[in-house]
Amino acid sequence: MPRKIAAGNWKMHGDGAALAEIDALMAANPAPSVDVVICPPATLIHRMVSHIGSHPIAVGGQSCHAAIKGAHTGDIAAGMLVDAGATHVILGHSERRADHGETDAMIQAQLETALSAGLQIILCVGETETQYKAGTTQDIVTAQLRHALPQSDAAARIIIAYEPVWAIGTGLVPQDDEIAAVHAAIRALLCDHFGAAGAEMAILYGGSVKAENAAAIFAIANVDGALVGGASLNAAAFSPIIAALARA
Ligand code: PGA
Repeated sequence: MPRKIAAGNWKMHGDGAALAEIDALMAANPAPSVDVVICPPATLIHRMVSHIGSHPIAVGGQSCHAAIKGAHTGDIAAGMLVDAGATHVILGHSERRADHGETDAMIQAQLETALSAGLQIILCVGETETQYKAGTTQDIVTAQLRHALPQSDAAARIIIAYEPVWAIGTGLVPQDDEIAAVHAAIRALLCDHFGAAGAEMAILYGGSVKAENAAAIFAIANVDGALVGGASLNAAAFSPIIAALARA
């Protein structure tokens, strides 16, 4: 069985005062059976890692450059994330694809660099509203995955997050059977690509996951957790999602 993973994507939210939410999350200690990863802004990674100490909450970055270093103003290298104490990195988030023109080829190169640096990758895929309405969701998602997945035997260090772009931050969520169909297609592709190891990879759903809908989403086959934006920003909203995943 894949590990259960609850990942929080803080996006461009959070300063030093937000570390109080990590205190609250650690105090709630919602579920040892769930791997919790928080991906704060880069400025907070080192402080958050120090703050967490020996508690098993992991910390991740939200992107990294494909190059290991160089003249790339404003970017962050995978090795820098590791140096700051991060163990994970989100790659291919739709906001990076939209805001920074990140292509499948760029994401594939970032993924190789992040693997070389020793990071675990949360690889995001998902269709836009237009693609959803055109009925091309599975084609888009499988094409994004086929472009990004490495040829190396890295299954154990890659987590997939299926995030319909139209569901992110909107309160909209696909029907259960739609999520089930996409996650089944992702599972089949992972097993095709990685063999038996593909069956052990966690596939997260992301897009408007809240305490209210978490249990229903986690009951869907091949949903091994969630990538959570807005509801991960405070412990009171995130803890019940983690608890729902533990019960699933
Ligand atoms: P949301 O964001 O939970 O606020 O919809 C999810 C994401 O973008 O990862």
